[in-house]
Amino acid sequence: MRQAGRYLPEYRAIRAGTDFLTLCKTPALAAEVTVQPVDILGVDAAIVFADILLVPEAMGSNLRFVKGDGPVFDPPIRSTTDAASLIRPDVERSLGYVFETIAEVRRVLDGRVPVIGFAGTPWTVAAYVVEGGTSKHYPSLLGWSHSDPAGLAGVLEKIADTSRDYLLGQIDAGAQALQVFDTWGGLLDAERFRAIALPALLRMIDGLRDKVPLIYYGQGTNHLLPILRELPIDVLSVDWRVPLDQVRQAVGPDIALQGNLDPTALLAPPAQIDRAVAKVVEAGRGGAHVVNLGHGILPMTPVEHARAFIDGAKRHGVQASA
Ligand code: CP3
Repeated sequence: MRQAGRYLPEYRAIRAGTDFLTLCKTPALAAEVTVQPVDILGVDAAIVFADILLVPEAMGSNLRFVKGDGPVFDPPIRSTTDAASLIRPDVERSLGYVFETIAEVRRVLDGRVPVIGFAGTPWTVAAYVVEGGTSKHYPSLLGWSHSDPAGLAGVLEKIADTSRDYLLGQIDAGAQALQVFDTWGGLLDAERFRAIALPALLRMIDGLRDKVPLIYYGQGTNHLLPILRELPIDVLSVDWRVPLDQVRQAVGPDIALQGNLDPTALLAPPAQIDRAVAKVVEAGRGGAHVVNLGHGILPMTPVEHARAFIDGAKRHGVQASA
C-alpha cells in the first residue's frame, strides 16, 4: 500500500518527469520504484509498483488520474447497459507491462526479498468504476447494490474473471505471494457482504493459495471477521481500528495476521513510533504476524519516520519470536 510512493524523494524524482499511469506502464521505471523501499528502508518484501485500477482500464474503462482528485473513470459504469462495454481482455496484451515489471524486479532483487503481486477485489474495483472515482459514501455503488443486485453481480463477475487471469499471469511472471485489496468491503454489512461481494471474491481467488501464499486486506471490515476467517487465504491484513489480539480471538489460531499500525502514527517523533510498533508486535504475539501499517503510508511521512517503523518492526519482531 504505497510502500513505494510520494513520501520518498527518490520516487518523486522519477515521478517529476512521468505521470502515474505512464510510470506503471514502463517496466524499467516501475521496477526501479518497486525496489526503492527495499534499498532505502530495508523492508522484507517488495510489492510490485502498479495499481488496482489498471484492471478496469484494461477492461475498457477510461481511467485518468487527476492531481488532487485521484482516479477518475469517465464515463462511470452505472447500469447493465453501461457494463456491456466491459470486455475480458487478453491480459498478456493489455496488462503484460505489469508482468514485465515483476520479471524485472525478480531479476534485480536476485532473491534478496520476495516479490508480492496484487489486485483489488471485485467489489472494491467496482466501487471506483461505478462511482467514477473516490467518494465518501459511494451512493451510486450502494444504490445499485440495493436496486439491482443481480445486475451489479454481473459486473463483479466480469471483474473477477479478468482479475483472476491477471493474478495468474503475475504468478507466471514470478510473483511469490499475492495480496488482494478490499478497501471498501467494509461498506457492506455482513449479510450483504456475503450475498454481494463474497461470491465474486471467491471466484477471483479460487485455488490461488495452492500456488502462492495469499493475503487479503480489508479496511473497516472488523464486523466481517466471522466471514473473513473462512476465506481460502493464508494471511488476513487488517486496519488499525481493532488491536490484533482481539482480531486473533475472532479468527482463531490458524491464519497469519498482517498489520496494523495507524499510518498517521508515523507522523509522531521516531521514539514514539518505536513504542507504537512495540505495542503492535505485542498485540500480535498470539500467532503468526507480519508487521505492517493498517493502510497506505501518507505522502507527508518523513522518510526517517518510515525507517523508525521498519527498524522497530525488525527489532521488536525478532524479540517477539525469540
Ligand atoms: O505499495 C506499493 O508500492 C505498490 C503500489 C500500489 C499503488 N496503489 C500505487 C499508487 C498499490 C498496492 C496500490 C493499491 C491501491 N490503489 C488501492 C488499495 C489499497 C488502498 O490504498 O486502499 C486503491 C484503493 C488504489 C486506488 C488509487 N490509486 C487511489 C485512490 C489513488 C489516489 C490516491 C492517492 O494517494 O493519490 C491511487 C494512486 C496511487 N497508487 C499512488 C501510488 C504510489 C499515488 C500516485 C502518485 O501520485 O504518485
